[in-house]
Amino acid sequence: MSSGGKRAFLTLPQHIFTVSVGFIVYGRDAKSGRWKIFRLMVTATHQGKGYGTAAMKKVMRDLSSRPDGHEILVCYQDANGVARTLYAKLGFTEQTVEGTNVTALWRAARSEVP
Ligand SMILES: CC(C)(COP(=O)(O)OP(=O)(O)OC[C@H]1O[C@@H](n2cnc3c(N)ncnc32)[C@H](O)[C@@H]1OP(=O)(O)O)[C@@H](O)C(=O)NCCC(=O)NCCS
Repeated sequence: MSSGGKRAFLTLPQHIFTVSVGFIVYGRDAKSGRWKIFRLMVTATHQGKGYGTAAMKKVMRDLSSRPDGHEILVCYQDANGVARTLYAKLGFTEQTVEGTNVTALWRAARSEVP
């Protein structure tokens, strides 16, 4: 639209949406006192795109930069082959199996964040 020979511009707001593809929950394990990944969950439609690995690497980097973050635990079901492979590739080694629960440990001193 123009008025008096001058052109008026219409500006439109552009909305940017952030989409959540999952979550990672971690904190101190009351039993061992170590840092522990309590839950890692990627939405089914976004699995296999590297988000789980990226989330783990971010938390591993963040925790291992702390003086008390050189050891991290994870726990997963024995039958969960995807979780087992993901954590093994990141350098976690299986420690204990209690029933169907496997606990694995990563030591920053021995292996850097891959
Ligand atoms: C385990 C989980 C977090 C992995 O997240 P993700 O974003 O899919 O993982 P990535 O994309 O980083 O892939 C990691 C590896 O698993 C493989 N993978 C991912 N989804 C897979 C599937 N459905 N079937 C087979 N392999 C799969 C990937 O190919 C990749 O292997 P690669 O490095 O050889 O290519 C996700 O499958 C999930 O949320 N599962 C349900 C909850 C769960 O089991 N959490 C873990 C225990 S707490």
